[in-house]
Amino acid sequence: MLQALHQEHINIARLLDVLRQQLFAIRSEHPVRYRLLKDVLSYLSEVSDQCHHPQEDLIYDYYLKYRCQDDQITTRLHQEHELVVEAGKELAALVDMILMDAVIPLDQLMAKLESFIVLQQRHMDFEESEVFPELRTSLTEDDWRHLEQNWHYRTADDPLFGREVAERYRDLSNSISLHA
Ligand SMILES: [Fe+2]
Ligand SMILES: [Fe+2]
Repeated sequence: MLQALHQEHINIARLLDVLRQQLFAIRSEHPVRYRLLKDVLSYLSEVSDQCHHPQEDLIYDYYLKYRCQDDQITTRLHQEHELVVEAGKELAALVDMILMDAVIPLDQLMAKLESFIVLQQRHMDFEESEVFPELRTSLTEDDWRHLEQNWHYRTADDPLFGREVAERYRDLSNSISLHA
């Protein structure tokens, strides 16, 4: 389960690279691929916000209940998940407006995009460096079995990094492979 979440972090990191490239394009006044930006944000809200984070929340809640004396880590994680979701929604709304030809100050878009990337990256780094190692050492095989059984959400295959790329993520998938 932790291994799958770790793999998802690697996938998210690749998408953050796509966002960084687009941020760089906006800054240097090169053509910006707003569709691609939108696809990345759609994917993150579809898979990351609705599957990856809830799965982590389930594990952290369990950890807090049975292992942890101090709940600062879990509180921070839950808060960060909410912040990431909120920042993603705001950014997606902005990109949608641009795609509908609304005039949006580019400074505003760059600031939001940059803070979204920083937020996501910092959150993942915190999980990878502090939270996951702690979970690895403190949860037993039995705990993981229990957690897997309690994980109902994950039914579908990943629409971008799974066995088959869904039609709506074809462009994004091609673009990532080009930069791999
Ligand atoms: Fe997370
Ligand atoms: Fe995560």
